[in-house]
Amino acid sequence: MSKATNITWHETTVTKQDRRTKNDHGSCVLWFTGLSGSGKSTIANAVSSALYRLGIKEFVLDGDNIRHGLNRDLGFSDDDRKENIRRIGEVAKLFVESGTVVTTAFISPFRADRDQVRILFAESEFIEVYVDCSLEECERRDPKQLYAKARRGEIKEFTGISSPYEAPEQPEITVRSDQLSVPEAVDQILEYLRVKKMI
Ligand code: ADX
Repeated sequence: MSKATNITWHETTVTKQDRRTKNDHGSCVLWFTGLSGSGKSTIANAVSSALYRLGIKEFVLDGDNIRHGLNRDLGFSDDDRKENIRRIGEVAKLFVESGTVVTTAFISPFRADRDQVRILFAESEFIEVYVDCSLEECERRDPKQLYAKARRGEIKEFTGISSPYEAPEQPEITVRSDQLSVPEAVDQILEYLRVKKMI
């Protein structure tokens, strides 16, 4: 809900379509969702690198990084996670307007919040990528030692332990990150983009 009144939306002179035509590729958001430690950031970065090498405009928005700046005022309560995802959705939309293939790596645990982001976009522009990895495997990897802390009760509201994760019901792509290597996951995602004539 908007607090401000007397504001008018201005269409830009150069349009999203102009930028896509000039770039000779589409623009979209690859919205990665999954448990902490499932491989979202790793795979999102690997996809972005592959796109970069192909000469495609790309950018990564990563949860841990955005929480150092734009979203430093937010914690991990349900409301704060909701606001985290809302802001990232709006930022991702600007990147799509700019002609970029943007990858986002946020747990984004709540289905309703992801669906709110989805409706900001045209159907072909929002690609939900479920990084499917069992809690057991994420906890075994525990790259940041956060599961260990959560189990000791040193982190409250930790996703998968003391805060829920709602898996997508119909994601555009499911990456089985406990079965595929990172290059295999990248191939799977690039193939999807090619089939959809995004790249
Ligand atoms: S989200 O739930 O709001 O989408 P986001 O992806 O931005 O989360 O941030 C998750 C990252 O923050 C995790 O990868 C982890 O490094 C760190 N983190 C710190 N505290 C928590 C917590 N309570 N739950 C989940 N992640 C946490």
